[in-house]
Amino acid sequence: MAARWKRWIALVGGLMAVAVAVVYALLIEPRRLLVETVEVQLDGWPEDAAAARVVLLADLHAGDRDGRWIKRIVQKTLEQKPEVVLLLGDYHNAVNAGLSMPEEELAALLAPLTAQCPVYYICGNHDQFEQARATRKAFVRHGIQPVEGKDVTLSFNNGRQAVLRGVAHRHEKESAGPMLRRLSRKKLPPTLPLIAATHSPYHSIHSPLWAELTVTGHTHGGQFCWPGGYPIAVREPWTRETARAGLRRSYTGQWLYVSRGLGVSSFPARSFCAPEITLLLLRGSGKALQLRGTRCD
Ligand SMILES: [Fe+2]
Repeated sequence: MAARWKRWIALVGGLMAVAVAVVYALLIEPRRLLVETVEVQLDGWPEDAAAARVVLLADLHAGDRDGRWIKRIVQKTLEQKPEVVLLLGDYHNAVNAGLSMPEEELAALLAPLTAQCPVYYICGNHDQFEQARATRKAFVRHGIQPVEGKDVTLSFNNGRQAVLRGVAHRHEKESAGPMLRRLSRKKLPPTLPLIAATHSPYHSIHSPLWAELTVTGHTHGGQFCWPGGYPIAVREPWTRETARAGLRRSYTGQWLYVSRGLGVSSFPARSFCAPEITLLLLRGSGKALQLRGTRCD
């Protein structure tokens, strides 16, 4: 009799634990908003320069009922006193089901950021074709500047400058060869570090973008992780190591940062992978630029 009761207690306890985990993953984790502060030492800047503040917002995946959530993200971003904000793509969510926030509404909600500092954006895989056109129209109207396919010079309060390059999203199965040939840093000032913004880390890991720092989103850090933030499972052609969030060196030695992003796609839940606003504190390494990629084309 006692053994039977023990089995029942174990079963009920197990079911309750699963129910708590599901509720947490669906309702609580996707709305935990964390600020990840990441220090990066850039070659090409002197070691003693004060930090330049750059905020990354990736993978908003704004739904039609996410107005309060976006306002909260904007407020928290402004509290970080950014000198530049980079929007790293995937603004839409469930477009075919009509559940995505209209581009004009999202742009208006993000617009207060432009009163603080320059705001640049690139598109992700959820913002292609007519979504890309509508995003551009709305964002430009609200002062959010497209940087895809462009180089712009960033000037920071520490007196330093860097070049920001927006790189169009490419599907993982597409060859990175032609893109890399276009991405030579041949025409860039030989004294300024290059920061590349692109939606997915895939090509940056396997084929370097010749930037001192590449910033990306797309993988949501795995979205479903073990405690500690390592992805439980990822779809092909990703590996869990590629998809995980955080700062790392590419195999050629440049910095790559992958953001967990702010929204969800496919399944509206997260585990041990809270949404993040990334505050990059850029300082100088004191080392000269190595100017890799100069013979790319
Ligand atoms: Fe995404």
